[in-house]
Amino acid sequence: MKTIIVSIITAMGLLIAGVSTAVDMPDVAKKNNCTACHAIDKKVVGPGWQDVANKYKGDAGAAEKLGTVIVKGGRGVWGPMPMPATAKISDEEVKELVAFVLGLAK
Ligand code: HEC
Repeated sequence: MKTIIVSIITAMGLLIAGVSTAVDMPDVAKKNNCTACHAIDKKVVGPGWQDVANKYKGDAGAAEKLGTVIVKGGRGVWGPMPMPATAKISDEEVKELVAFVLGLAK
């Protein structure tokens, strides 16, 4: 009986681990069209967000810097392609996106 319970718990643990590694873009990113140019784990038009997170890991000013890029656009950090300003985005959504991106650091 004990081994059955242990193996059920182990199986559940594996299941949860499997789900949590497959991070998907949050709705706020889909809604604001970030997904047209960004993916989590690879470069599309813009850099993969996991790479962004790793680049700014430990940078205390990162949240503010990335918030500004999301609102006003940016250029010259990742390559020749500029990132356009985001039309009509709320402070709340910017905060959510910054937190999501920086939370991807490994
Ligand atoms: C038209 C394509 C496009 C769209 C849409 C877009 N991005 Fe970008 N993004 C880029 C490119 C290109 C870069 C690289 C700019 C650079 O080299 O400085 C970038 C860079 C970034 C960076 C890193 C900035 C830095 O200075 O390191 C973040 C964070 C980011 N984008 C988030 C977002 C979010 C959030 C959205 C949606 C609100 C979004 N992007 C929409 C193309 C896009």
